[in-house]
Amino acid sequence: MKLPNKETITILALGDIVGRVGRNAVVRNCRFLKEKYHVDFLIVNGENATHGNGLIYKQYLELINAGCDCITMGNHTYGKKEILTYAKNAKKLVVPANLVNLEPELQQNIAYEQKIGEARIKVINLLGIDNIKLSVKSPFIAFKEIYEKDPEAIYIVDFHAELTAEKNSFGYDIDGRASMMFGTHTHVQTADERIMPEGMAYITDAGMCGIRESMIGFDYKEVKKAMWEGTSYSVALKGKGMINGLLTTIDIHSKKAIAIQRINFDVE
Ligand SMILES: [Fe+2]
Ligand SMILES: [Fe+2]
Repeated sequence: MKLPNKETITILALGDIVGRVGRNAVVRNCRFLKEKYHVDFLIVNGENATHGNGLIYKQYLELINAGCDCITMGNHTYGKKEILTYAKNAKKLVVPANLVNLEPELQQNIAYEQKIGEARIKVINLLGIDNIKLSVKSPFIAFKEIYEKDPEAIYIVDFHAELTAEKNSFGYDIDGRASMMFGTHTHVQTADERIMPEGMAYITDAGMCGIRESMIGFDYKEVKKAMWEGTSYSVALKGKGMINGLLTTIDIHSKKAIAIQRINFDVE
């Protein structure tokens, strides 16, 4: 189906899916969200989708078949080793482009491009450095290198990082070259969404698709015990789900955001 010519595109980016409740929340609401907000392209971070750590192929397919257009990852990219066997068949999977020694099986997954009418968008995923505990190349240099090879694309960037100031600094750096940056990784949504001075839609962290009453997706009762007794804790399995994200509309000619809205609601 050819899309009618449009002057704007609307992008919805959702925060890290954590476990089954998060997956189900996205799978069951994906098409509803796309209709409700007239979304042309929906991205979700899937690094914790499979029981809190990584993403297996079956669940990649489940999310894509539900209507997700692209799935980004993060520091848990290798959480499920299966990714190395299925990545070549998962064109809509995007892994961090600045991981040092990225496995050869993932080399073709460092960007996802799609035409939407006249527009050509490019989704990339980059890791921050602070407290990420992986060998990572500077995200500033990595973005510059990618951008300079293809400055015509409309860039949507999932910046997966821990530190607020690092995310904020990176946002100001790529503002004017990227059209949208949504932070991920902390699983806690920030309320600082805005259009930056050069027109990029920005949020420090999009939040999480998972159980609201949890410790960033982990069972809070187990966490309470763990803090006092040193026991282990695991992904929360029961509770009401929520969906967090950032919605933006971008002018395809100026590549600047013209509207922005934070998304945060409970699901049954
Ligand atoms: Fe995460
Ligand atoms: Fe993460």
